[in-house]
Amino acid sequence: MFGKKRSFLGLDLGSRAIKAVEMTPAGDGFQVTGFGYEPVEPAVDEAQEGEKLRQSLESLLSRARFRTKSVVTAVSGRSVIVRYVTMAQMAPENLRNAIRFEADKYIPFEIDEVVLDCQKLEDAPDGKDMKVVLVAVKKSVVEDQVRLLESVGLRPQVIDVDAFALGNAFELHQALSAKAMERDRVVSLIDIGARKTNINIVVGTTSHFTREVYIGGSNFVELVAKRFGTDESGAEMFMADPGEAMGELRETVASVTDELVHEIQLSFDFFENQNDQEVREIYVSGGASRLAGLPAEFERALGRVTRAWDPLENLAVDPRGVNEAEIRDKAPNLAIAVGLASRLRRD
Ligand SMILES: Nc1ncnc2c1ncn2[C@@H]1O[C@H](COP(=O)(O)OP(=O)(O)OP(=O)(O)O)[C@@H](O)[C@H]1O
Ligand SMILES: [Mg+2]
Repeated sequence: MFGKKRSFLGLDLGSRAIKAVEMTPAGDGFQVTGFGYEPVEPAVDEAQEGEKLRQSLESLLSRARFRTKSVVTAVSGRSVIVRYVTMAQMAPENLRNAIRFEADKYIPFEIDEVVLDCQKLEDAPDGKDMKVVLVAVKKSVVEDQVRLLESVGLRPQVIDVDAFALGNAFELHQALSAKAMERDRVVSLIDIGARKTNINIVVGTTSHFTREVYIGGSNFVELVAKRFGTDESGAEMFMADPGEAMGELRETVASVTDELVHEIQLSFDFFENQNDQEVREIYVSGGASRLAGLPAEFERALGRVTRAWDPLENLAVDPRGVNEAEIRDKAPNLAIAVGLASRLRRD
């Protein structure tokens, strides 16, 4: 409705924890008006996973207070396919049909089983073709997500994809930053969660490559817990600040960091060969990016400037709805939730 100030709740249903960030327009910009973080208990099997997630979501909603039930959330994992393809120029209204027609070239699922979306990114250098991003998500995955959210009284407005949410959080971060960004700067955004790592490459603020690899913080925890005989939270504390045991920590998790570096390098090689552009910088987020020394390790191994970024930097937080110390403590984990809530800038 005209003039009405709408809030949005960005909800990141992670495998280890649910992260919720609510944003509301305020003045010329907007501010964070709600926040929730709730661990998800490990499930014994896949059948139990949905139930564990629902319990955590209920618990989060009973503790945090939000102004809105309008939710923007995302899907990720093996049922989500993102492809960057080159096609002949055509009118936007014809693009969807053309993609449907050619989809089986790009998507390993039956066309009737997926929800398809596509968007033109830019003209190809030859002027005749254009670059298009194509997203296909298994219908059952979207339906399960919608059912889960509705079952706890939420109203899903948009179902996004983790990788694009990360890109949106970065775009917001840049928009709020005092330093103007070069238009064609090539940056990689890497979100290291518990079970997966999302590798993205953005040109300016547009996503041009994305890939998920199934390595994350739970692999770090397993190695550290075994070596030092700690539980999960003990391992996390130690990994955040190992003090004099830095060398031992590095050595303990080296097999996982090496594998991550290898996967990232492969992604950069692929992008750089296809695009004749170089990835200049890396921004890491996600809970496992808290591993002491990780940015420095990436910088050394990949030869690109690497930063741990704070997706809340320069964002106003309303102390009436949000415990500032709590949200700041979780900042590295919130990139995707912030990106989801930032939808309100465009809708
Ligand atoms: N200091 C630390 N060093 C390394 N890993 C850490 C540290 N602190 C927390 N972690 C790990 O971060 C992970 C949680 O991060 P995050 O909240 O981003 O995951 P998630 O979104 O739930 O997972 P996913 O995206 O894979 O579904 C856990 O595996 C946790 O053990
Ligand atoms: Mg995550």
